[in-house]
Amino acid sequence: MHLFLSAAVGQFMERGRSLKRNERNRVQIFEVYPLRYPDNVAREVSVVDACLIVDPDNKMAYADKVELFGGYDDLIRVPAAERNKGPILEVLQQHLKKIGDNGFVFEVASGPGQHVVHFAQSFPSVTFLPSDCDVSYLKSIQAYINKTNVKNVLSPVYIDITQPLSQWPQHERLQPQSCDGIINVNMIHISPWDTCEGLMSAAGQLLKPGGFLYMYGPFKVGGVISPDSNVQFDSMLRSRNSSWGLRDIDDVKQLAEQNGLLMDTPVVDMPANNKSLIFHKKR
Ligand SMILES: C[S@@+](CC[C@H](N)C(=O)[O-])C[C@H]1O[C@@H](n2cnc3c(N)ncnc32)[C@H](O)[C@@H]1O
Repeated sequence: MHLFLSAAVGQFMERGRSLKRNERNRVQIFEVYPLRYPDNVAREVSVVDACLIVDPDNKMAYADKVELFGGYDDLIRVPAAERNKGPILEVLQQHLKKIGDNGFVFEVASGPGQHVVHFAQSFPSVTFLPSDCDVSYLKSIQAYINKTNVKNVLSPVYIDITQPLSQWPQHERLQPQSCDGIINVNMIHISPWDTCEGLMSAAGQLLKPGGFLYMYGPFKVGGVISPDSNVQFDSMLRSRNSSWGLRDIDDVKQLAEQNGLLMDTPVVDMPANNKSLIFHKKR
């Protein structure tokens, strides 16, 4: 079966969505964004391995192939996550090293699961709990756990971070002050602001005193978005959903403070005009 991809993406988006709803084949439609090929030529791709994604690092959307691994039909591979997992771990490891053996780290909005298994393989004495509110991602995370045979990643949990903790599924590891760290990558600009509110509220309750919150993505600084690729990415996100868009670091920092978290300075610049923000829960 083939699906026609063209520069007129409206039709493709509809078809793509219905394919996802029916969970047919292995098509994954991530945040849909007008499809652009460098040459604007329409193409045919097989729906069995087609994947339309917004690449937060390249600030564009494109069709890509999902790499399928024998037997792991739910496994989704996003190229951006492959590229940024190394630079993210480089920053993150400074904080993971400090939490020591038997540490516990919760990831909010894990997406496909490429990050969590990568981090866990480098820190076998730390236990990681991935989560997401998209069931196809939860399946992919479990497929990565199975494929890598990593022992220190717990089965993923369904968490909608906009919901209060009292509404979350019961989980023995998610208790007040139970987390040494919380990780959140590329979520708050590709979702409404209430995900950031939920994330900060959860971090304020779940982190131990001195625990860290790690955030990654593109941000506005002092009301200004730069460079141009980030400006374009922001307007693309807003045209897709008016409640999305790059967030100002000052707003994130203020929300963090309201929840008992202080931001480390300086902010860390990352490849492709992204940033790492680190917060620590007050002792
Ligand atoms: C761009 S993806 C990033 C995924 C992953 N962190 C990565 O970098 O590969 C955004 C993620 O945010 C998740 N998300 C959006 N709204 C959410 C919510 N209310 N609660 C939990 N996750 C949410 C989506 O399901 C998706 O996995």
